[in-house]
Amino acid sequence: MNNFNFYSPTEFVFGKGREDETGRYVKKYGGTKVLIHYGGGSVVRSGLLDRVKRSLTENGVAFAELGGVQPNPRDTLVYKGIDLCRSEGVDFILAVGGGSTIDSSKAIAIGVPYDGDFWDFYSGKHATEALPVATVLTIAAAGSEGSGNSVITKEEGMLKRGTGSDVLRPRFSIMNPELTQTLPSYQTACGATDIMAHVFERYFTNTTEVEITDRLCEAVLLTMVKETPRVIADPDNYDARANIMWAGTVAHTNIVGVGRDQDWNSHGIEHELSALYDCAHGAGLAVIMPAWMEFVYKHNVMRFCQMATRVFGCQMNFESPETTALEGIRRFRSFLHGIGMPINFRELGAKEEDIPALVEKFGLGDGRTYGFVRLSSDDIAEIYRIAARAEL
Ligand code: NZQ
Ligand code: ZN
Repeated sequence: MNNFNFYSPTEFVFGKGREDETGRYVKKYGGTKVLIHYGGGSVVRSGLLDRVKRSLTENGVAFAELGGVQPNPRDTLVYKGIDLCRSEGVDFILAVGGGSTIDSSKAIAIGVPYDGDFWDFYSGKHATEALPVATVLTIAAAGSEGSGNSVITKEEGMLKRGTGSDVLRPRFSIMNPELTQTLPSYQTACGATDIMAHVFERYFTNTTEVEITDRLCEAVLLTMVKETPRVIADPDNYDARANIMWAGTVAHTNIVGVGRDQDWNSHGIEHELSALYDCAHGAGLAVIMPAWMEFVYKHNVMRFCQMATRVFGCQMNFESPETTALEGIRRFRSFLHGIGMPINFRELGAKEEDIPALVEKFGLGDGRTYGFVRLSSDDIAEIYRIAARAEL
């Protein structure tokens, strides 16, 4: 196991009706003038926004508001948010929504105290200062409610890039699983796929002797395999929703990934798809992640056998471990298909002829990525090709 620090300062406020306590928590963490940031309207329609505003007012907290965050959140709205915060004297950002809204809020939070262009932080600069951010989460997916990460798309050239810093970790996150019951099943499934991908990015490691994190990863994956079909079949199943919501956070605070090298190539490869086609991140991952697995499994067949036997219930074939490894990957893809996810380019709305452009935008040049298997540009092109043509 590698040396590590684990820092997860967020206070998670979990359960039914907890959004009514938002104002109290903003006060606890020192907010006096809040920017409420939200998406395309789901929180208006559900009445959540009104409940959050009421809670702030009851606690004497003033607020400004800015809606309109799109999935794959854009830099253009971030600039607006930064200007608004400066002119209104905002000292606390409250994201009410999903990963896109939270990531946009984090971008505003680092932009406000910074003299230069906030995009600098999405081009390699490390953030050391930000306004405090908190969240009221409405979808179990990105894990941004507990992570120090943010992913923004620059509209000019549709460049999707991320940043990470502990100053972006939310002060608190309110997590009421009931709020996710209004999600269309496609979005629920996209979220579930993203959660599983966050675990797999950590599970496939070259670090040995990491039993505790292996087992934690498997616990989250087994939970997702059990609970996701339950919520797809019955969207109002509170307990299944609750398990998935907490799984989403556990998957991405890094508690399942400490002490081990991680991969994250599937995320990088997917981000080019959601940047080019503006598809849901989870849907892109459903197409990419099994294709990546098929490309790399020979690097450590036994690790894929471990996934196949422990997570997807395969029988170990000792004469032919490769058969077991491939069966595990096949079951993963079939699971994704079963919850309504696309499994190839056609189903995602992507085009095979765009592969050279996708690889070029990935921007690897002559180098290789880091991770479980260090990929060249040719390798990435091959993964896109496997993804393009995948069938059950
Ligand atoms: O915009 P509204 O109207 O709210 O609708 C949203 C949006 O259309 C809708 N939605 C959310 N909660 C709902 C709801 N509809 C009905 N009822 C509810 N309760 O769902 C759609 C998707 O929302 P979005 O916020 O985009 O989803 P998600 O949480 O999956 O976030 C995706 C973004 O997070 C990034 C992705 O790349 C993508 O841009 N990621 C962020 C990470 C991080 N910060 O740590 C890590 C991830 O790997 C990921 O890359
Ligand atoms: Zn993700």
